[in-house]
Amino acid sequence: MHSIEDIDKSKLPKHIAIIMDGNGRWAKQRGKLRVFGHENGVEAVRQTVENCAKLNIDFLTLYAFSTENWKRPKIEVDTLMRLLVASLRKELKTLDENNICLNAIGKIDSLPQKAHKELKEVIEKTAKNTGMTLTLALSYGSREELKTAIRAMAIEVKNNIISPDDIDETVINDHLYTRSMPDVDLLIRTSGEHRISNFLLWQIAYAELFFIDVFWPDFGEHHLAEAIISYQNRERRFGKTSEQLN
Ligand code: FPP
Repeated sequence: MHSIEDIDKSKLPKHIAIIMDGNGRWAKQRGKLRVFGHENGVEAVRQTVENCAKLNIDFLTLYAFSTENWKRPKIEVDTLMRLLVASLRKELKTLDENNICLNAIGKIDSLPQKAHKELKEVIEKTAKNTGMTLTLALSYGSREELKTAIRAMAIEVKNNIISPDDIDETVINDHLYTRSMPDVDLLIRTSGEHRISNFLLWQIAYAELFFIDVFWPDFGEHHLAEAIISYQNRERRFGKTSEQLN
């Protein structure tokens, strides 16, 4: 079993993104309601955030609620929102102690008012922190993000602010929720599913993918270490040959 001490600190991924999957199945295995899985998922979030901050990872992005998740039973959606508000309140101090700056991506204004307000407050209060940026993807969908960006660029073209020729990868990046963030280096998905589920489609173009067969509430330090060590043992060629890299 690996620990975070085994990680080569000179070759860390700058940006780790995680699809936290399997809370429902974790609960079902124990004969409990799905919401019990989400409640236990919060502890895995806390540990992962602290471990990434300890490692000096620059960006950690967590898929906490997708645009599709609104279709879940109301009780489950309400529980997820309640957990979000409670965690933000409870963890503000931990975020500060770890010099973490909170950020959010997605259609944030479609969240219930209470969650929206709490989120904005914690984002403002941690804006001065200079360590890791923790981004919560909330009411996030990659296609929605791209649609919004394309619409905004079309309006700028129409109003002669930019010309179609100005639209390059940098301009596109600047219109995404993730503007000011680097591309994802390592994408982790728990629960054994091998899917991307509409998460950061543009930003994972060259990411290394790591799928692990544990449910999110069981994801701990040694799993994070395993993912990062696996990333460090891969050769990222960005389209070049091995020889060109050497
Ligand atoms: C996926 O499990 C998990 C989610 C949809 C939500 C993730 C939320 C948390 C871990 C808790 C709250 C978050 C924060 C940031 C405090 P699933 O329900 O899809 O599981 P299943 O695939 O087994 O049904």
